[in-house]
Amino acid sequence: MPNILEVDGIHTFIGQFHILEGVSLAVPQGSITALLGRNGAGKTTTLRSIMGLNPPREGAIRYAGEPIQGKTAFQIAAKGIGYVPEYRAIFRALTVEENLKIAERQKGDLAKRSDLIFELFPDLKRFYRLPGGQLSGGQQQMLAIARALVPDNRLLLVDEPSEGLAPIIIEAIVAALRQLASHATVLLVEQNFRMASMLADRYYILDDGQSVHSGQMADLVNDRPLITKYLGAGYAGTPVTPTPERSN
Ligand SMILES: Nc1ncnc2c1ncn2[C@@H]1O[C@H](COP(=O)(O)OP(=O)(O)OP(=O)(O)O)[C@@H](O)[C@H]1O
Ligand SMILES: [Mg+2]
Repeated sequence: MPNILEVDGIHTFIGQFHILEGVSLAVPQGSITALLGRNGAGKTTTLRSIMGLNPPREGAIRYAGEPIQGKTAFQIAAKGIGYVPEYRAIFRALTVEENLKIAERQKGDLAKRSDLIFELFPDLKRFYRLPGGQLSGGQQQMLAIARALVPDNRLLLVDEPSEGLAPIIIEAIVAALRQLASHATVLLVEQNFRMASMLADRYYILDDGQSVHSGQMADLVNDRPLITKYLGAGYAGTPVTPTPERSN
């Protein structure tokens, strides 16, 4: 499969801080690729660099073979890249329907995609007219992912979808992401190693702003020394216990 996304030696600064010091990765079309690393490793900054929200000062980013570094976030999104940020950035006062509607890139996007969205996330159909703020944490995460599906995106950048969710809800999100992967390529940031290992074909590990390792997820799962070295002891063996789901 050709790579839909290629990140080549990017350097990104936040203010005067040199945060990414040479991050490279490739995401094959049709895959789920996991981006792993400890807290503060630079995972979110990498996604924000790709989206043009935190443009890199050096290095190249190609989407479907075309350089996109230097373009605005708006231009990059319009090429078909969806971003699901950390912490479920939905509009709490707007209904599920309104949250989805304002994610349209073109008029009529939602009508075209609602069957897929309801198939992946039946709860969103049930609570279509409810304010986003009244949904459970898991349902809010589903809404956040669904918003990125409203436009016809070919690549989704998803940042820690399992964060703060109960295991049973995580299972539902895993199932939805797996199904979603037949419609779009996914670059998935996850701290929950079990979730990442259930979903991803390939992985990249970031450490201290650099990409330090990559390979097949099936190999990483059995490589405890590597997991312990770069992801911490909590990653190895027992699944990372998620905190109980927040109630709203
Ligand atoms: N606004 C900021 N100002 C200064 N430093 C920042 C800022 N935002 C992030 N950083 C630093 O950049 C580094 C990378 O942060 P980033 O959020 O990309 O990490 P991450 O891998 O997503 O971590 P986490 O798993 O905690 O979400 C961290 O050391 C962080 O402290
Ligand atoms: Mg992060």
